[in-house]
This record gives sequence, structure tokens and C-alpha cells, in this order.
Amino acid sequence: MDTLTDKRVNGIRIHTEEDFEGMRKAGRLAAACLDMLAPHVQPGVTTASLDDLIREFVLDHGAHSATIGYRGYRHASCISLNHVICHGIPSDRVLKDGDIANIDVTVVVDGWHGDTSRMYKAGEVKRKASRLMDVTHEAMMAGIAAVKPGAHLGDIGAAIVEIAHKNRVSVVEDFCGHGLGRVFHDEPSVVHAGRKGYGPELLPGMFFTIEPMLNLGKKDHKVLSDGWTAVTRDSTLSAQFEHSIGVTEEGYEIFTTSPAGLHTPHTL
Ligand code: MF3
Ligand code: CO
Ligand code: CO
Repeated sequence: MDTLTDKRVNGIRIHTEEDFEGMRKAGRLAAACLDMLAPHVQPGVTTASLDDLIREFVLDHGAHSATIGYRGYRHASCISLNHVICHGIPSDRVLKDGDIANIDVTVVVDGWHGDTSRMYKAGEVKRKASRLMDVTHEAMMAGIAAVKPGAHLGDIGAAIVEIAHKNRVSVVEDFCGHGLGRVFHDEPSVVHAGRKGYGPELLPGMFFTIEPMLNLGKKDHKVLSDGWTAVTRDSTLSAQFEHSIGVTEEGYEIFTTSPAGLHTPHTL
């Protein structure tokens, strides 16, 4: 690593304009991968078959999946259905009409990580599921809108909580967003249930994800015996969206914007 550009403030790396270019490429590919999946998420397909499509897409584009080999994880995505909060493992589980799924991919392009997830629906989903997905997307975007130089990291989670509570859903506190760049999970931890004015000050050149998980019921989770799958303790539905972003002089840049404009399940 070039020591001239190896700068951290409060433990958070400050990246250069060249680094932004690296993240744009990685973020764009990750988002294009999620776009590619949209027509395939249908009743009758297995989550493993969706993971196969992801792995092939990433390799076909000269990139690799950050999750394969990460802490013993062996898949190109996490696919979290219904009451699964995050880290759902692709399997022979067949999607059923009415299922909602979060699909989370992290690609590595020229050493840079693009990490993003979206919600998908299999067939027709219930109104309450649809509403949870909408509220979760709105909460993520409100969190992103709080990002600008001089704001504090806690402002992001404060904005997320405000949207969640207005809509009477809970925010998961046990999984956080994270710094990223040449590393997958770096400082800072981005708390999704934050407090305004708390945490380190945001500065141009900081890169991190915002990836709130919202539950229809309580915020509590448990991890299944596979060591990965995190589910709601009360088995209520959970939704999540994730963008990788950078702090700019003016505010923020989203690296993982959908090239096809498929941000939410409803734009399909
Ligand atoms: N992509 C996830 C995140 O948003 C991390 C998945 S790690 C895995 O940070 F090993 F579970 F794939
Ligand atoms: Co992430
Ligand atoms: Co992710």
C-alpha cells in the first residue's frame, strides 16, 4: 500500500479520487449482477440456482466473489428468505409464490469491493411484505441522505430509525454496515439504529455500506445451527437493502446504483 495515500482518521480510511474510480467499477458490476437476477427470481427456482447465476456472471465479467472463501463461506451470495434477516445460505430450497428474498452480492474488481443487496419477490406477495420492503428501502435512502462532510456516523442510523418507527417496524441492531474498499469489512461499523450527533465525523473519501435490516416484529435475532443463517426470533418477516457509498465534498456518491433502474421489487 502506498504510504502517501494510506491515511486514516478515527481509524477510517480516507480514499483518493482514483479510489473512487475503482469503487465505481466494482459497485456498477455488483448492481448489474442484481439487475441480471431480476427476471430469474420466480416461484419454482432454487436459491442455489440463483447463486450459480451470480457466480457465473461475476466470473464472466473478470471479477470474483468476495464471499467465496470468506470465513469458510462457500457461496457467491447470501439469499435470505422471509424471516431470515441476513446470511441465508443458497440451497435446494425452492422459491414459493409469496416469498420475499434479499439477495446480497459482493464482487471484487481490480481489488475493489462492491457490496449491495436488494429485495425480490417470488410471484405475488402479501401487502404487509410489500410494505416492509418499501419502508426498508425508504429507510436506507434516508440513511444515505444523511451522509455529508461534517455529519456524524450516528446521523445515518438516526434517520433510519425515524422512518422505521414511524412505520411501526423494528431495526436490527446486531448486524451493521461497514467500511469497505480494498478490504471487504473495515472500519467503521455503521450502526443502523443510531443517534444524531454521535460517532465519528464523516469526511470526504470515507467508503462504507449502509444496509439496514427491518423486521415486522421485534428486532431480536438468533443464528441457526449452520452457523450463518440469522433469523428473527419471533419468526416475523425481515427485509434489507444495501448500497456501497463514498462521502464526497458535496455529500455522497452511491457506487451500487442499479444501471437498469431496478431499485425496488416494484420497479420490475
Ligand atoms: N455481503 C455481506 C455484507 O453485506 C457479507 C456476507 S459475508 C458471508 O457485509 F460470508 F456471509 F457471505
Ligand atoms: Co455489506
Ligand atoms: Co452485502
